[in-house]
Amino acid sequence: MEKITIASDHAGAELKEDIKIFLKKRGCDVLDMGSSGNESVDYPDYGIPVAEKVSNGELKKAILICGTGIGMSIVANKFPNVRAALVNDVYAARMAKEHNDANILVIGGRIAGKGLAQEMVKTWLDAKFEGGRHQRRLDKIKEIEKGMKR
Ligand code: RB5
Repeated sequence: MEKITIASDHAGAELKEDIKIFLKKRGCDVLDMGSSGNESVDYPDYGIPVAEKVSNGELKKAILICGTGIGMSIVANKFPNVRAALVNDVYAARMAKEHNDANILVIGGRIAGKGLAQEMVKTWLDAKFEGGRHQRRLDKIKEIEKGMKR
């Protein structure tokens, strides 16, 4: 069963609930790491625990949502091995996997409607990393993480 972890701040909580339903219908094992409700929270408090688990290999794939998706993507990409892609259209969602092997999909809950968000999630999950020249490019990013290049 495909395991997907999802988290959001208050600005993404409503969309998170909708995506959870969509993922469960698809047969995914969904782990919700908060937040819930409309109370204002700080997106790093929800993005960091998810990004840490992706970074250490505990989680293979995750979805993060905040108002624009910007804050969550800034947070997540601080962590080694995390390739978080903020997407606002289906083409970018496909490329995020095919070219960038994104292991976290980031969506703006105040930007994407439910239909578009579902389509982006489906497209990202169904896409396959193409490797080859794209792997070479990811390897160059990996070198930065190793502190070998500036
Ligand atoms: C919360 O108001 C908002 O700033 C947050 O959800 C996110 O969009 C930050 O990048």
